[in-house]
Amino acid sequence: MSRQPLWLRCEKKEFERRSALTPTTSKKLIDAGFDIYVERDEQRIFDDAEYEAVGCTLVENNSWPKAPVEIPIIGLKELPESDEPLPHTHIQFAHCYKHQAGWSSVLARFHKGSGTLYDLEFLADANGRRVAAFGYHAGFAGAAAGALACAAQKSGKTLGLLEPYPNEDAMVNAVKQALGGSGKGLKALVIGALGRCGRGAVDLFRKIGLDDDDILKWDMAETAKGGPFQEILDVDVFVNCIYLSSPIPHFLTREQLREAGQHRRLSVVVDVSCDTTNPHNPLPIYNINTTFSHPTVPVDVGPGNPPLSVISIDHLPTLLPREASEQFSTDLLPSLLELPNRQTAPTWVNAEQLFRKKLAEAVEVEGL
Ligand SMILES: NC(=O)c1ccc[n+]([C@@H]2O[C@H](COP(=O)([O-])OP(=O)(O)OC[C@H]3O[C@@H](n4cnc5c(N)ncnc54)[C@H](O)[C@@H]3O)[C@@H](O)[C@H]2O)c1
Repeated sequence: MSRQPLWLRCEKKEFERRSALTPTTSKKLIDAGFDIYVERDEQRIFDDAEYEAVGCTLVENNSWPKAPVEIPIIGLKELPESDEPLPHTHIQFAHCYKHQAGWSSVLARFHKGSGTLYDLEFLADANGRRVAAFGYHAGFAGAAAGALACAAQKSGKTLGLLEPYPNEDAMVNAVKQALGGSGKGLKALVIGALGRCGRGAVDLFRKIGLDDDDILKWDMAETAKGGPFQEILDVDVFVNCIYLSSPIPHFLTREQLREAGQHRRLSVVVDVSCDTTNPHNPLPIYNINTTFSHPTVPVDVGPGNPPLSVISIDHLPTLLPREASEQFSTDLLPSLLELPNRQTAPTWVNAEQLFRKKLAEAVEVEGL
């Protein structure tokens, strides 16, 4: 059987250091009969040499448009905007299936080039479960940012620039140090604690030294009584990690915060779910997404009351590029190993069917 080629492209999005293939998963693919081409990329958390050492062929940065058309191209984030036709098969997050801004022009490029898109967000197993997602490290990094913001606030400061950490231990140690050596004594509440993000948030709090009793872990059962919830006001850091699928009562409101006045322990809300512009956002206390350079936004809590800030960064796993890539790529590996059988393997067949459906919608909207 001939070897299956796969081309790892560079990432062009600012701050993006993660990668869809890691040296570890590349090696496994090579052992299974793949030829892996890797674009040189200084932005990527893994060195080019790490890929070369496991047998990948290094190619020029951003050279995928000239790659032989039969080689599938894998990457993570959207391609830079352009009208150029796309003749290849692309495996990536394209953010164009839910009518996001510019969705039809992205798909139009595939139509013009007769290319195919397998969107990573919609690669699912036979039970409809996503094969790979970045949630765990989003929760982990979100909880870390929350603890850092809490430490800054306690010393009368505002949390400054957040930068990617080389690894999980470095992040945990930095948070512990900011909290004077340990997070013991801090109290946290995680809602959506049974999900991917929620589990990551709970693990970070454990690793920085919170007592297990001081990490309240809520999921559907605990919120069934309906918000707003006084319990949120009684912790230092609240991390929202729910997957919002239908309207629910608010978890926290501005009125509740003003009424609590001085009697509020809560100092930081981390909205990992980031349903910021969703009309059913259960946290209607803020309305912008925050960034690595300005991680927090203050909430209007009324004069004389203790400050409260929100972190609503929508690309948190970027803070832990190494572990986040490793986990995502490992979860994706079984599906990638099926790539040579993509005409029959359900994960790929279903993803292609969805692409064809969305492509047809775009062709109509664009009048092609
Ligand atoms: N900010 C970021 O960088 C980032 C990164 C990845 C994911 N996310 C977002 O985080 C959210 C969660 O993702 P996930 O992968 O962890 O999802 P998930 O499906 O693994 O987990 C969601 C959890 O929320 C719980 N839940 C849903 N509604 C609830 C409610 N009303 N009350 C209590 N619990 C409730 C579910 O039971 C589940 O345990 C998604 O909206 C996702 O888009 C954000």
